[in-house]
Amino acid sequence: MAFPQHRMRRLRGSEAMRRLVRETALEPSNFVLPLFVCPGEEIRREIGSMPGNYQLSIDQLVAECGEVRGLGIGGIILFGIPEAKDEHASGAYDDNGIVQGAVRAIKHEVPGLLVITDVCNCEYTSHGHCGKVVDGDVDNDATLAWLAAAAVSHARAGADIVAPSDMMDGRVAAIRKALDDAGFPMTPILSYAAKFASGFYGPFREAAESAPKFGDRRSYQMDPANAREAMREIELDIEEGADMIMVKPAMPYLDLIRLARDRYDVPIAAYQVSGEYSMLMAAIERGWLERDRVILESLTGIRRAGARIILTYFAKEAARLLS
Ligand code: PBG
Repeated sequence: MAFPQHRMRRLRGSEAMRRLVRETALEPSNFVLPLFVCPGEEIRREIGSMPGNYQLSIDQLVAECGEVRGLGIGGIILFGIPEAKDEHASGAYDDNGIVQGAVRAIKHEVPGLLVITDVCNCEYTSHGHCGKVVDGDVDNDATLAWLAAAAVSHARAGADIVAPSDMMDGRVAAIRKALDDAGFPMTPILSYAAKFASGFYGPFREAAESAPKFGDRRSYQMDPANAREAMREIELDIEEGADMIMVKPAMPYLDLIRLARDRYDVPIAAYQVSGEYSMLMAAIERGWLERDRVILESLTGIRRAGARIILTYFAKEAARLLS
């Protein structure tokens, strides 16, 4: 039997009907808002390539977090811009570092808000790479100690979840062991497991002042062409103790979100990265795309592909649209 017995349009005739048969629902608890914290006071410096996003000093960050909590958003993920950078990324694992101070302030002033910390070194190294550089490349095993120390100092400051984004091999196991040894066996790890060497991170590197000073990240981040390799990355991270995994970026990698959802029974996150945000915003500002529709449509697509958690710079906007 086909047409005219079957008419797909029968279930599309009114908003009430469409709502009844809708397969994918977004809610504010799906979203995690990335925030950038910098030294100083009363600083709210807009990021040129990411309109509506700011480098915030801790006082401003706390105010922002109050608003985020009020909107019912799932949580925030913090990135730090330190006072100074060096060869050893000391600011990344300093108990008095910028992120550690920010976490303590948020935990004190905005209780109940879930705080995730990004664990990486690129914002803290003078050369902008994600680990210790030896002979012109990032040394994997030497970098693990920095990452483990950063994760422990974030947990000590009160972070609810640590999220390593460096793409070193073995970092999840190293972080898990360090957290357990330091008395944080209950702090979950959200691993950026399938993170690609992507052109879509450009605006973030302006926001976080973390562009590499030489070369690129292709010796540690993944080749955009590889799907099977992404599944191996995820599998290894789960074996090493990751509680949740992430696919990043989101829109060019929706197939991998779906593959991961079908294969692995851990919560799956996807990161709608800075470039995805900036290109939508640029078109919205020119009047070429309709703001509210494309925000919700892009997030619905990521959710439909299988991500329960979406890291997105549209988190506040989308939460407002859904309320
Ligand atoms: C740190 C990190 C990056 C992003 C998140 N964590 C940048 C990079 O790997 O160069 C990108 C996020 C975004 O583009 O929104 N390693």
